[in-house]
Amino acid sequence: MQAINIGLLGLGTVGGGVAQVLRDNAQEIARRLGRDVRIIAVCDKSAERVAELCPQATFVANPMDLVAREDVDIVVELFGGTGMAKEAVLQAIQLGKHIVTANKKLLAEYGNEIFALAEQKNVMVQFEAAVAGGIPVIKALREGLAANQIQSIAGIINGTSNFILTEMREKGSAFKDVLAEAQRLGYAEADPTFDIEGHDAGHKITIMSALAFGTPVNFGACYLEGISKLDSRDIKYAEELGYRVKLLGITRKTEKGIELRVHPTLIPECRLLANVNGVMNAVRVNADMVGETLYYGAGAGALPTASAVVADLIDISRLITADTENRVPHLAFQPSQVVPQNF
Ligand code: HSE
Repeated sequence: MQAINIGLLGLGTVGGGVAQVLRDNAQEIARRLGRDVRIIAVCDKSAERVAELCPQATFVANPMDLVAREDVDIVVELFGGTGMAKEAVLQAIQLGKHIVTANKKLLAEYGNEIFALAEQKNVMVQFEAAVAGGIPVIKALREGLAANQIQSIAGIINGTSNFILTEMREKGSAFKDVLAEAQRLGYAEADPTFDIEGHDAGHKITIMSALAFGTPVNFGACYLEGISKLDSRDIKYAEELGYRVKLLGITRKTEKGIELRVHPTLIPECRLLANVNGVMNAVRVNADMVGETLYYGAGAGALPTASAVVADLIDISRLITADTENRVPHLAFQPSQVVPQNF
């Protein structure tokens, strides 16, 4: 059966991860989907990088040429930011391409426009990787909790800040040294002030809030306070009093409207959220029927984020392939492939 063809915009940390996941888990993905998923074209600043990481793909210098290619089924936008990324995404949607993006800033600031155009053009825009890295929290809000009215969400949703706060508390490291390490490890945004001043967490909680409460995205309504003014004494004193300092994104439905905020928060050390360390993220959702649920995992980094991007690719591919003959089997196995089990 024909493969699903991907056009990739941006082969940076996450783009490289996507190429690796599609290569290393190609068989697993084809087994689950019944079709191969392959990157056929990549637009990146570096043609050498494309030749090295995606040798099977064609290098395309201009993003508009990539989105216009007729053989591209899904465009994956990993440029980040709201300049060329926005132009390319809108143009791709105009041309009827489905989109997968990890770009939280783009969706938090221009999501209303992008989703409206996508509805009009009847294409899908998926963005699991935009919130909490590899944790499938968008899926949880949309699908797993679909029977509920969501009451509140609170989460550690910026891996870089959490990494900095953890290293400062556990090792007494200096803020700027840990930030440099987070950049080296590929956790931080291209402009790391987005991480440490709370913008990145603000983008993510804005997106979750809109999904949870069925409202337009409204990043302008989000109160933002980051961790840059904290020093190791704040963290030490909090610890002496039995608290941990965490940067939380919070959204709640109140009688006065939807609350949307990001700020450092003191959390009693016995709570689960207080014990989410390093680059890990956790999102706690309160909903009327199920009560409290908690989602935990790596919030940044090449492969965890790529895992979410590729999950979206598989989702869209399934819908593209959705006819009964090619429907994905419920347990996704071929009888000939069953491995004997030892219970
Ligand atoms: N800079 C982000 C973070 C990357 O540290 O969480 C993942 O969105």
